[in-house]
Amino acid sequence: MKDASPQPIRLADYHPPSHLVEAVELTFRLAPRGTRVRSKIRFRANPAGLENGNLRLDGENLRLVSCALDGTPLTALDYLLTPEGLTVPAERLPGPSFTWEAEVEIDPADNTALEGLYTSGGMFCTQCEAEGFRKITFYPDRPDVMAPFTVRIESDLPILLSNGNPAASGPGWAEWHDPWPKPAYLFALVAGDLVAHSDRFTTMSGRDVALNIWVRPGDEDKCAYAMDALKRSMRWDEEVYGREYDLDVFNIVAVDDFNMGAMENKGLNIFNSKYVLASPETATDRDYDFIESIVAHEYFHNWTGNRITCRDWFQLCLKEGLTVFRDQQFSADTRSAPVQRIEDVLQLRARQFREDAGPLAHNVRPDSYVEINNFYTATVYEKGAELIGMLRRIVGAQEYRAALDEYFRRHDGQACTIEDWLAVFEDVTGRDLSQFKRWYTQAGTPRVSAEWQVAEGRLHLRLAQELPPTPGQPLKEPVVIPVAMGLLSPEGAELLPETTVILDGPELTLDFDLDEMARRACIARPDHVIPSLLRGFSAPVILDAGLSRADRLVLLAHDPDPFNRWEAGRSLMRETLMEMLTGGAPDPALFDALDRLLAEDRLDAAFRALCLALPSEDDMAQAAHDAGLVPDPTAIHATRRAMQVAMARALQPRLAALYDAMDPGPAYSPDADQAAKRALRNSALTLLARIEGPARAKAHYAAATNMTDEIAGFTTLLETGDPDIARRFHDRWKDDRLVMDKWFMAQVAHAAPEQAVAIARALTDHPLFDWTNPNRFRSVIGGLTSGNPAGFHDPSGAGYRFLADWLIRLDAKNPQTAARMSTAFETWRRYDADRQALITGALDRIAAQDGLSRDLSEMVERIRA
Ligand code: PHE
Ligand code: ZN
Repeated sequence: MKDASPQPIRLADYHPPSHLVEAVELTFRLAPRGTRVRSKIRFRANPAGLENGNLRLDGENLRLVSCALDGTPLTALDYLLTPEGLTVPAERLPGPSFTWEAEVEIDPADNTALEGLYTSGGMFCTQCEAEGFRKITFYPDRPDVMAPFTVRIESDLPILLSNGNPAASGPGWAEWHDPWPKPAYLFALVAGDLVAHSDRFTTMSGRDVALNIWVRPGDEDKCAYAMDALKRSMRWDEEVYGREYDLDVFNIVAVDDFNMGAMENKGLNIFNSKYVLASPETATDRDYDFIESIVAHEYFHNWTGNRITCRDWFQLCLKEGLTVFRDQQFSADTRSAPVQRIEDVLQLRARQFREDAGPLAHNVRPDSYVEINNFYTATVYEKGAELIGMLRRIVGAQEYRAALDEYFRRHDGQACTIEDWLAVFEDVTGRDLSQFKRWYTQAGTPRVSAEWQVAEGRLHLRLAQELPPTPGQPLKEPVVIPVAMGLLSPEGAELLPETTVILDGPELTLDFDLDEMARRACIARPDHVIPSLLRGFSAPVILDAGLSRADRLVLLAHDPDPFNRWEAGRSLMRETLMEMLTGGAPDPALFDALDRLLAEDRLDAAFRALCLALPSEDDMAQAAHDAGLVPDPTAIHATRRAMQVAMARALQPRLAALYDAMDPGPAYSPDADQAAKRALRNSALTLLARIEGPARAKAHYAAATNMTDEIAGFTTLLETGDPDIARRFHDRWKDDRLVMDKWFMAQVAHAAPEQAVAIARALTDHPLFDWTNPNRFRSVIGGLTSGNPAGFHDPSGAGYRFLADWLIRLDAKNPQTAARMSTAFETWRRYDADRQALITGALDRIAAQDGLSRDLSEMVERIRA
């Protein structure tokens, strides 16, 4: 029998905790099986607590050995123990303040869900966000209970780490003390045979901080870049936000088995090793980029997340949206700002717009959830970051900084809500943000459309917004949309310097005097004007700019805003692909424009590479759906290929010249400048291979001295059908886990669609396929669902069956990662009736499994709805 579906948790039901924690002492006697955890927790009744005064402790999969209150042992009659936790009734409590002591036993080696305390490659580590601490000991596992922690670890392993500062140590034990009150989700412990890449940092007030990146012996030469990124992040947060680090040590640990990217535990960040370890030979420029931004992200959480945390998990965007925004700012400052913005928007559209357009759409601040792990989403993170960006644009950079200063001053040490956050902005800037708040409480991507006409020397521009219904939200109120804009003449002259207008009603009409603008621009009055709207992607909306092809060609050539230059090209590409999908041929004017843009040597090579990239197959499927068509993944794949051939033919001399000119030489550096050149050069390589055959790629692969070039050669050769290439790559890299993840992934992602499922299936039989390792699982199964959409959507349904089989299998071990991967099915309503039936069949088969996790059952139910 299937369990009855668990009840959702609602924001509206929030109650303050009945008890607060004054101090926590934990002692761990580590063993892979039978780890003993002793806890001593000083409680005091919460005056604000509305509850009955019972002591409520969360606890899961714990063997209770003993417990006591103020030193008096409790018997089973003194408390109520359920699979979810333990309650001591108010009448059994000694008074408003008391000390709880308990000893529990847990089995880290059995913990395949990777939540709580688990083992990975011989080391012990923890993951407590969101609700993993309850698998370590009994505790009020909610973020609004904050306390200082003292931790003692007993183990024969040489390196024993926890949060805060080292307090004392001896042979076989170590003690740590974290003076900063924190919620349990920020607790961490690591024990292992580890080596450190160490450095130091002096903070702006002169505090000396020891920095360590802990890895397995042999990996210590792959930490330099992460360390460099950490020091730059620490400096940047001082300079840009005035935030200083607050402990004597900052530790980062790399682990191979990790469900997510990384975790911001206080003073002891734990990272998926793929976001720490890098050498030129093993990591691509993209990997370096990720390492930099994730190191920054986790470090920035020290203030936005740790010093100020969330009151409850509905407020997750309070820390995540803000911290993503901060890491995006950091990357924009560190690398090219326009390129960073384009890449962030590409991600936003690929993941968040997709989510918002389907059955999983939810508010940036959700109203309810069944399993909180399912809400670490692109909406909470990336759309959450967009909301901060809009707020900053609306109030201006100076007032933004003043508001942030006030936020840190007012709320340091507290667990806060979105209301607290917005109140700070209202108080500091004197603005009313009640309408802006709708961005947090309404799901879905607003659509903005523009219409305009030129008459009698004036431009009339009308902007309108529309908010499509989402699950549970049929009707919505207008939101506040900052639209950064400029106006160009047909020759590309700037008629209006950039300005931001606010669309906050259903529509807005604007009126411009062309004579006056022309006079200021020193040109004759034009009879046509081209609005450049939503510059820098000033709001997370879908814009129908109403521009003709000729207008967009002007913007592609002349828009002073690089984002809109790129956007004009992208929209022309999308339109061309859509026309080709229905039998049309590409317009040579687009290729001419691209050719000229590629030739602009003063343009950033990374920007040029982005302009050359086609919309993805998934983008095309969404575009087809939006146009009222039923997307055919096979046809989309073939059309994109045809477009690449057409582009390669039209641009061949330019691409060949760029291939030669963009060689940064053999001395590798992951810096933005070199990475940009490699990006453009490798784009040229893949396009040229479409018409030239494999010779250039073979030479490229043979000559590669770094993984960026090697993987570009490898994937190109996989596509052009070099029969031996996978074996050669394997033989070279079989002992390197992270490179082998790429090997698994690339073979599936670059397989011909009709072979993709068979190749993926064969790879799951490979001796190195360890499906309990989330990275490896994602390489093969994600390689199909995200990397090869035409293969995944094979008309036979084989891809859907393959995914369902693996989700069912993984769910029994690791519900969080299984649930996350199930989002591959979220777009099912886009497709034809046959595919819909096959997908819903696969979903129903998952739903019918006995003992399905709360994580996966919630996802399947929501996707199916
Ligand atoms: N809080 C982490 C981050 O944003 C993400 C995370 C969530 C990691 C849940 C593990 C588990 O960096
Ligand atoms: Zn985060």
